[in-house]
Order: sequence, then C-alpha cells, then structure tokens
Amino acid sequence: MEVAFATSIPDDADTLLVGVAEGRVLMPGAQQIDALTGGAVTKVASVGKFTGKRDQTVDIVAPEGVEASRIVVLGLGDFDTIGALGRQKLGGGVVAHLNEVGAKHVAVLSSVSAESAEFVYGVKLRSYQFDKYRTKQKEEDLPTFQKLTMVCADPKAGEAHLARLDPVADGVTLARDLVSEPANTLFPAEFAKRASELSKLGVDVEVLNEQRMEELGMGALLGVGQGSAHESQLVVMRWEGGGNGAPWLAVVGKGVCFDTGGISIKPAAGMEDMKFDMAGAACVTGLMHALAARAAKANVVGIIGCVENMPSGKAQRPGDVVTTMSGQTIEVINTDAEGRLVLADALYYAVTTFKPKQVIDLATLTGAIIVALGSYKAGLFSNNDELAYALVAAGDKVGEELWRMPLGERYDKDIKSDIADMKNVGKAREAGSTAGAVLLQRFVEGTPWAHLDIAGTAWARSDEPLTPKGATGYGVRLLDRFVEDQYER
Ligand code: BES
Ligand code: MN
Ligand code: ZN
Repeated sequence: MEVAFATSIPDDADTLLVGVAEGRVLMPGAQQIDALTGGAVTKVASVGKFTGKRDQTVDIVAPEGVEASRIVVLGLGDFDTIGALGRQKLGGGVVAHLNEVGAKHVAVLSSVSAESAEFVYGVKLRSYQFDKYRTKQKEEDLPTFQKLTMVCADPKAGEAHLARLDPVADGVTLARDLVSEPANTLFPAEFAKRASELSKLGVDVEVLNEQRMEELGMGALLGVGQGSAHESQLVVMRWEGGGNGAPWLAVVGKGVCFDTGGISIKPAAGMEDMKFDMAGAACVTGLMHALAARAAKANVVGIIGCVENMPSGKAQRPGDVVTTMSGQTIEVINTDAEGRLVLADALYYAVTTFKPKQVIDLATLTGAIIVALGSYKAGLFSNNDELAYALVAAGDKVGEELWRMPLGERYDKDIKSDIADMKNVGKAREAGSTAGAVLLQRFVEGTPWAHLDIAGTAWARSDEPLTPKGATGYGVRLLDRFVEDQYER
C-alpha cells in the first residue's frame, strides 16, 4: 500500500472517501463534496438504510462535479467517542469494500490530521496478503486498492504519527509471514536465520545450537526435537534501547515449527494447521522488529525455542523422563504436550541469564483454551496481579484481548508424577490449559511472569477488521503497547 498525506485531493484519485456520522451527520469533507456534487452525498445518505452507523457504506458512481469516478460514503458511528482503535477498525473495515468496487487510488477526506494515521494503520493491517506460493494469480483476482492519500489540514502531523505506527505494522507483517510459511520451508534453522536478520535493525541476535543446549542441560527442549531431522535452535534477540541500568523485560515464544504430536501422534484431519505452532515465537520476533524499528527506549530480550515435534525411531517416547536445565525432571506422559517442555527450558534460561523484572511467554499451548475462550480472547495466566492488569489494559487498548485464567496449588498438584518431579499433563480432560501453565510456573524462579495461551487467537478462520483470514500476528501490537506503557514512561 502506497500512502501519502496531502492538503488537497490528488488529480489521479479514482475514489473519494467521505465520512458521515451516526444520525446522517456529514463531516466537513462530506459537506465539501456534497457542495461540489449538488447535494449528492446528502441524497444517498438520506434514503434507504444508511444512517451513518459504523462501517456502513453507500456509493455514488460517476458523480458530477468531481474528477473521481466514485465516492464512497462511510458510516462513522458516534465519531466523538471513536478513539484510536475505532479509527483503525474503520480503515481496516472498509478495505474489502474498496477492493470490491475496484478502487485503485483512494483519497480520504479527513477532519483530523495526526489521528488520520490510525485509519491508515488499519488499512495496512487489513491489506496483508501471503501469496508467495501462488504462481497463477489472475489480474482480476488481485486486490485493486493500491494507493491511499489522506487529505487533511496538517499532512506533517499525519506522517509523524504514522512513523510511530509503521514499525509495528511491519512487526505484525513479519509475524504473519512466519506463521503463514509452511513447515517444509520454515524449520528451526531457517527460523533462526530469519530472526538473525533483525541484526540489521540493531538487535543483537545469538543462536544456540543443539550442542550448546546440551552443555546447558536443556533436556526438555532437546527431547522434543529429538525425533526430527532438523536441528533445534534457541534464538536470543536483545534490544538494549533503555540504556544502562534499565531493567530487562524477557519475552519467550513457543516455536514448534510443526507439531505432529510426536509418538502420541495427532489425527490426520486438520494436522496441517500445526504449522502455526510457532506463532508465539513469530510474535516475539515481530515484536523485536517493531521495538528496534521504532527505537524503543526499553531493554527487551526475546527468546524463542525452535523445534520440530516428529515421530521417528529417534523420537522420545511416552514415559520417558527428561532433565531440564533447572535440574527438575519431567515425565513425558504425552509427547503431544510438547510446548511446555520447550518453554520450561527457554523460560528458565531467560530468567537465570537476564534476571528480568518480568517475563512473558506466548504459546499456542493448548486446544483447551480454544474450548474455553474461542478465538476472541487469549488466555492469561500470571503469578503477579500488577503484571496481569497491565497486560489486560494494553490488550484492551489495541483490541488484542486477554482473559485471566486460574493458577493455584490444587491445579499444581495435578501434575505430580509417580517417578519424576512432575509429569507433562494434568487430569484427563479437566483444566487442560492451567495444567500447562502450572508446569511453566515451576521454571520462572519466582519472577513476575505471565503466560499467554494464544492457540485460539493466532489464526483467524474468517476476515476480521484488522486482519484478513489466516495468521493474525496476535500479540505484537499488545506487547508493543505494554512495553511503551510499562517500560518507556
Ligand atoms: N499445539 C498444540 C495445541 C493446539 C491444539 C493448538 C489444537 C491449536 C489447536 C499443543 O502442543 C498440544 O498438542 N496440546 C495438547 C495437550 C494435551 C496432550 C495435554 C492439546 O491441547 O490437546
Ligand atoms: Mn502438541
Ligand atoms: Zn504444540
């Protein structure tokens, strides 16, 4: 998407977009076009269903009085209370309509300047596409909408505000690209290579191979990758923008590049979805991109455990006992509960190496969280109320919502093992997401910690205002906001 800000309507814009608030209240831009077209906007906005409700549209085609070939009238809802997220959703929400009518260069007549960048941000997020593997796309199937000009009083203010948002949009795009990529091309070493590219932005990237992880005693993470032909990798991405003495925030991601379930193999139907099982790691990588690209004034370390969970003659078996870096042992009852094994070592490495003020992990950890929360909110588990509240608040601001789920001693007892310090599953069908969380909690050494179970939110089954169907990049915007609110003020 090519974006520009200007004070007047560009000659080559084929589509003008004007806003009408709830109750058929024409915004200044709509009034201006209404005057030029002999009242055409008032006319279409006063007949039929259009009342200015948010996201409603009505088109004026081949209008007289303006050069553009169409005018799209967009309902703004209650514009006084719209807010940043509302503006983003307005932009994202109109993208499909603009492509449907064949708009190429859209000029938006905006009554605000800096805030108009939020609309642009929404358009960018929603316009994401992953077509690198299509070789036969027909011209008529391609989206037409390629250029966006925001017409406003103060273009410089719009550009300046967009400069704060663009790095985050790019981080979301990176996360979505990684999640969309199939597992035959995005295996652990390739993931590490992609993450290493962040060094161009000033991120210090270190890759730990299997030999190094063996030296560190990461038996749980290595056990998961043991059945794969691909070498496991732990990637450590450091962004030190907070200056000396500033505390570290550690963000840890589950990077299971493909989850077959291992010897406890998953059924064939839908198994292809499990290429997304590295969405936590993708989010961490996208976040590091965003923070570096906008030069965030915070010290953040991103750590991702990249493995492939495969059955093979070398794979770990149900009943195996692995020794973690922390020294604690885990009985692997089900090789499909592998994410917690990867995170046990990655989390312990994070808290002991960096002594962070807080640690947050993201993982597509359990199917049970989808049963509980569906795809509208991610599960939040935390040993620290302050951290939990701050995360919920950040999520609400950006529209990546969280819902807190329980931890506690009684759940913790459910992972008692007969022969080791713990087992990797809880009771058969009860509190499955918490069973994963209480295991993770045993590896954070009392550090204020939050676990985000994003199994339901990492992939959208249908289009949403700010994300097309597919990989969502969930968590990048949430944690970018969290870092700004909690570490940069
Ligand atoms: N990656 C899956 C979680 C998952 C399942 C995400 C379905 C999205 C859809 C995870 O590794 C897993 O397999 N979890 C098991 C745990 C169980 C064996 C205790 C699950 O949720 O069934
Ligand atoms: Mn699994
Ligand atoms: Zn998994």
